[in-house]
Amino acid sequence: MSTDNTDKEAVIWTRLGGTPRRMGRLYVTDKECRFTYDDHYLEQDLPGLGLVYAPKYYGKTTISRPRTEKFDLLPPLQSLVPPRQQDNFQRNLALKYLATQDKKGLVGFDADWEILKISGHGGIGHIDLFENDEIAEGWYHNIPDHRLSEVTDELSFSLKEFMTWFEDDIEVLIQTVGPTPSVGGAIPKLLLSIPASGWDGRIGLPTRQKTPGVTDVVLKFEQKNRYPGIIELETLALDIHRQAGFAVPRYWACNFKGMPALAVERFDRDQDDNPLYTETLYSILASGAPLNNNFDYQYDLISEAIDKSAVKIVSDPVTAKEHLFKRLLLALLTGNGDLHLENLSIYDRHAGDNKRSFTPVYDPTPMRAYSQHDLLSVMPFGNYGELVDKQETPVKLAQAVARFASHAGIPDERHHELAQEMLASSQDYNDRVSELKTVPDENKTRLIKRVTEVREKLVSHY
Ligand SMILES: Nc1ncnc2c1ncn2[C@@H]1O[C@H](COP(=O)(O)OP(=O)(O)OP(=O)(O)O)[C@@H](O)[C@H]1O
Ligand SMILES: [Mg+2]
Repeated sequence: MSTDNTDKEAVIWTRLGGTPRRMGRLYVTDKECRFTYDDHYLEQDLPGLGLVYAPKYYGKTTISRPRTEKFDLLPPLQSLVPPRQQDNFQRNLALKYLATQDKKGLVGFDADWEILKISGHGGIGHIDLFENDEIAEGWYHNIPDHRLSEVTDELSFSLKEFMTWFEDDIEVLIQTVGPTPSVGGAIPKLLLSIPASGWDGRIGLPTRQKTPGVTDVVLKFEQKNRYPGIIELETLALDIHRQAGFAVPRYWACNFKGMPALAVERFDRDQDDNPLYTETLYSILASGAPLNNNFDYQYDLISEAIDKSAVKIVSDPVTAKEHLFKRLLLALLTGNGDLHLENLSIYDRHAGDNKRSFTPVYDPTPMRAYSQHDLLSVMPFGNYGELVDKQETPVKLAQAVARFASHAGIPDERHHELAQEMLASSQDYNDRVSELKTVPDENKTRLIKRVTEVREKLVSHY
């Protein structure tokens, strides 16, 4: 298919507040992405596309943003596009589905756009993109009866093989789950619903309206060849975070057709299955600054943005900065170097009460277990490893932690207290890692070694 040079048009809708409403119109030209809020939408006093591109700042004025290599679209909309990596599960799923609709050989932004039209609605968050209003109305008003099916009986394909080869059973998967709403990230996952009481082996499609008795989940799968034991590791990390007092969604380690999987309850839906405003820090920060990737920042700058940004990122900055400090510390102490801007999100805890905070914890996986991700921290903090203030030696780990706390305005005594809390809640971590059954010894050994090094440096200081 040749590259299409016509301006592209779509409409943005949302179910924020419980009723499907059109938010506005989207145009993408060869140079710009343009979005205009509808008058009716502006009367509602609801959140808009995102914190920066909010109705209160733009009103009826068209938002226009030049297209760049990383952002063809405004960042909150770009978040709906599965990443362009060749092996991205969500992307491949959508492309295979498009091929069945005679849309073959799509590349670049033309592919993104076609993917958005089929899977840019019903995904994570509150934004739904459709090709036009008629399709939107059809989608909101013709909702299939919700049905839970046994994974084992109803799905006759082997998803396990599918994960390895992708090709064989794709048609069946598509017919079974339909074009799935998109989720970003590197790990294969599907959005599904399960019984509200928890995983029992039955799944259904994600809800689109109040559906008593079920709850929405993100189901993440283990790719055994790439990240052996990752499900057990993520489960342990969620556990440790819960132990440390963080809000953590309910989760169920499970087995999906012989594959280890983890179902995590969605925090971007309320008790009536309506969406809540949610946005990753990447989307928020890239809306205001020219960022090129999800680690193109510093933790110190996040806390500065929480305090000083013209846009109010959270309702309670002191709590949010402490949250960030604790998240970073526990990431260091559990061997998760991957706490990037897409693994931190902001949301409205309840629709309409304007209480905006960090979301519950997701994706705290200790990626240092895997050699390709064995990094202390994907973003700098507290000038760690740098020469500052005319000192002769680079800033050490504990010093960097203290400098970050100080940059975040956390009083000394409090930062010591928080550090001790994080050390205490991760005390038995290494023992628990050793007990894991599906993580190869080599990966356990690496992780334990890294965590021990970090712990020793921090324990001697706190
Ligand atoms: N429980 C949840 N509720 C709502 N949204 C979620 C939940 N878990 C994850 N998400 C969203 O889905 C995205 C991808 O999920 P997650 O980070 O867990 O996957 P990942 O593939 O491991 O990502 P990465 O590329 O960082 O490894 C997140 O950035 C977040 O926006
Ligand atoms: Mg992630």
